[in-house]
Amino acid sequence: MPKTSTPSRHFNLIGGKWVPSKTGRWFEDRNPADRDDVLAELPKSGAEDVDLAVKAAKKAFATWRLVPAPKRAEIMGRAAAILRERKEELSRLLTREMGKVLEEGRGDVQETIDTAAYAAGAGTRLMGETVPSELPDKFAMTIRAPLGVCGLISPWNFPTAIPSWKLFPALTCGNTVVFKPASDTPIVATELVKILEEAGVPPGVVNLVHGGGGEVGMGIVNHKDVALISFTGSSDVGRTIAESCGRSLKRCSLELGGKNASIVMDDADLELAVDGAIWGAFGTTGQRCTATSRIVLHEKVKDAYMTRLVKRAKELKIGPGLDETVKVGPLVNEERRKEVHGWVERGLKEGAKLLCGGKVAAGGALKKGWFYEPTIFDGVKAGDTLAQEEIFGPVLSVITVKTFEEAIEALNNSRYGLSSSIYTQDVNRAFRAIRDVETGILYVNSSTIGAENHLPFGGMKETGNGHREGGWTAYDIYTEIRTVYVDYSGKLQRAQIDNRKAETQ
Ligand code: UN1
Repeated sequence: MPKTSTPSRHFNLIGGKWVPSKTGRWFEDRNPADRDDVLAELPKSGAEDVDLAVKAAKKAFATWRLVPAPKRAEIMGRAAAILRERKEELSRLLTREMGKVLEEGRGDVQETIDTAAYAAGAGTRLMGETVPSELPDKFAMTIRAPLGVCGLISPWNFPTAIPSWKLFPALTCGNTVVFKPASDTPIVATELVKILEEAGVPPGVVNLVHGGGGEVGMGIVNHKDVALISFTGSSDVGRTIAESCGRSLKRCSLELGGKNASIVMDDADLELAVDGAIWGAFGTTGQRCTATSRIVLHEKVKDAYMTRLVKRAKELKIGPGLDETVKVGPLVNEERRKEVHGWVERGLKEGAKLLCGGKVAAGGALKKGWFYEPTIFDGVKAGDTLAQEEIFGPVLSVITVKTFEEAIEALNNSRYGLSSSIYTQDVNRAFRAIRDVETGILYVNSSTIGAENHLPFGGMKETGNGHREGGWTAYDIYTEIRTVYVDYSGKLQRAQIDNRKAETQ
């Protein structure tokens, strides 16, 4: 094991060995609530590291694919148990590394535990189908086969949950992986990999390569021996990945941007709708693909709703996530904060009305972190920049409408389609929304965030490319369907021909 220095160093995992990068370069990982707090240094890897990781994964695939799926799944079950045991410690580390408040850090780790536990059962249910053959003495079925080496590229906003959505199903299905976590949150991701090792994943089955999206991420995407890419991140990067995968006809599963809206109708329970908006817009400091970033509000309840909403937003305590009285942690890094502020300035220029926030929060204890005030804009039109661009920060825009039809139209006026919600007491309107909203996830009388790990997760339009992580559908991403015919008639039987002879004679 290489020597560690101060700050401590973490390594890549390649073929079962923890190693530094061949580049000899390192990058720092800092606490977004306190930029003086350096958590560790990580290898700034390059093409050679990626190649070695893919080679190791390819070699390990030869044996891992032959391990019975229920046995592979037992390892996932052990990982779930270790995660459960270490939940509090990992949650604290996650909060220190990424910034989200501790309660949400615990939620992130819990989602990881749930995903591992689901995988532990899924290994015994990797089902195919049997279907009658059109010919006598012939048997037909489908089985699931792993693809090979999967490249998994994950974001920083759910540092363990989102990697777990990819790692656990990929491995349970018999694939081996090369995993590149976001460079803002490499340490908890490393812990997750160590847990898989401890649970019994053999050397080479999981390989971890730290570094930037360009060198490492695209290195994995473009590698000829990688069979599948699973990426969660921005739609722009997703498009580049899809283009590259398209050229080599590589399967790719993309989970991209969102511009999620909640409709608040005139018959809504307003307290509930405000609770949902505060949680959806400002939880995780707005840094969720599922964050509520638009409220489509019926004009009849506008005054009552807005008064409550703005009051509640102003009351939110901003600060380091490890302080359990804090509700809004920092943004993940300086660029993110600049970008969020850039969108706010653009909104102001376009004439939106700022009701609260709209500035950096840097007073007192906040001066060392990337804090930003919870921000609410009124007077936004469905086509405005604030209503169209994914801000990925604590910024909520309110669009006022007069009718249900107008509300649906405003909600659907987006190039994204991840998560949506409607607050209404009218069952007919609720079902119309279920039918008409262009979204992958829809909540009735709840916020746009809070997807449960055992149900499909993903979106329409530019949010993705038709795959669904989470639940049973994740297992479709990581398997090929193989259709198998067994002819036990002992003679050549020609489908579509021999069983039709009588009709043509
Ligand atoms: C994301 O926003 O990137 O539904 C994932 C939720 C979480 C997962 C969010 N369970 O908000």
